[in-house]
Amino acid sequence: MDKLVLLLLLLLGVFPFMFFQDPATLCMVCHNFKQGHCLRGKGNCTMKQGPGCRTRDFFVFNEKDGWKHNYTELDCSEYCSPMSFHYGGMKISIFCCKGQEFCNRYQGKLIKYNLT
Ligand SMILES: *[C@@H]1O[C@H](CO)[C@@H](O)[C@H](O)[C@H]1NC(C)=O
Ligand SMILES: *[C@@H]1O[C@H](CO)[C@@H](O)[C@H](O)[C@H]1NC(C)=O
Repeated sequence: MDKLVLLLLLLLGVFPFMFFQDPATLCMVCHNFKQGHCLRGKGNCTMKQGPGCRTRDFFVFNEKDGWKHNYTELDCSEYCSPMSFHYGGMKISIFCCKGQEFCNRYQGKLIKYNLT
């Protein structure tokens, strides 16, 4: 067989795998995640596409300390988009991640960033 045809057949055989390769990400689910531990509602979920696993940090405001981290919630959301907003005396910071198993447990409060 012609070498070129052989190459073409090889590419046709390989390409479909490359397109369907986008790996699903296993995310951690936790209703109340504090200091690296899940206190309540532990589980897992899978994101096949989209922005990936979601991490939501909840902060509460008090006069003495300003914004203080209260707890973190981990889950899957097709509409995850990174943002930060106030809601009365509460502040919520959202992070999204994918490509690494349980990556959402390493996002958010555990990563040092300035909260202003
Ligand atoms: C994901 O959760 C299921 C039950 O909800 C459990 O059987 C499975 O072991 C979990 N997988 C991992 C990797 O923790
Ligand atoms: C912090 O979160 C817990 C739930 O995990 C809630 O019961 C508590 O009221 C919150 N603390 C403040 C100061 O809002």
